[in-house]
Amino acid sequence: MEKQPILKGLGLNPGWKYEAIITSYSDDKPHAAPMGIRVIDEGTVWLEIYKTSRTAKNIERKKTFAINFTGDVSLFYRSLSKKEPLTYGKAEKIDAPVLKDADAWIEARLVDEQDLGGMTRFIAAAVASHKRKKDPQIINRADYLALECMIKASKVPYVPDEEKDFLIKEAVYILQAISRVAPASPAEKIAQDIVSTLRR
Ligand SMILES: Cc1cc2nc3c(=O)[nH]c(=O)nc-3n(C[C@H](O)[C@H](O)[C@H](O)COP(=O)(O)O)c2cc1C
Repeated sequence: MEKQPILKGLGLNPGWKYEAIITSYSDDKPHAAPMGIRVIDEGTVWLEIYKTSRTAKNIERKKTFAINFTGDVSLFYRSLSKKEPLTYGKAEKIDAPVLKDADAWIEARLVDEQDLGGMTRFIAAAVASHKRKKDPQIINRADYLALECMIKASKVPYVPDEEKDFLIKEAVYILQAISRVAPASPAEKIAQDIVSTLRR
């Protein structure tokens, strides 16, 4: 199977985790839910998904799905809440729906899966990628988390000691989250600096 160079085409970094909306067929009905994807190499990603979710069952059955990217948080919420219908198109190379409002998407085919207990790790090859916008917004949480870490640190001089400890714990927790979604990133460096300054 020919794998598409998604890293270059969409500007994704290996090892980083991005937030996406996964579209798949539930029998013949298009289905969407937000999921994180981790980039493994030039043309491979993995997703860790709770086994009881509809998306996990759809991928298990169909073996194909689309990874939709958008910076529009309301689209994430609509796909999570299922309160309003979404508008779908069709993928070109695989049997999966795509989100008409996505900035970009990857057409993916399952190549392997690993049982993680309550979750399944689905390893998938990118068979095609498309951009609807020239510069698609692809969410990685690291920069937002680094800002959150700065906000926590900036409060420390103004609060009583017991609140200080709580803020430092939160900053450490945020640093750990950044390391998971964007290892070796500028955001990780910032949070490391904040945490080591707070601990002095
Ligand atoms: C931004 C975002 C990322 C998410 N990432 C994951 C994920 O990586 N794995 C997972 O199992 N659930 C994840 N979720 C939760 C699922 O979207 C949620 O369980 C959803 O209800 C599953 O829907 P479904 O049963 O229709 O597939 C995420 C939620 C949000 C908002």
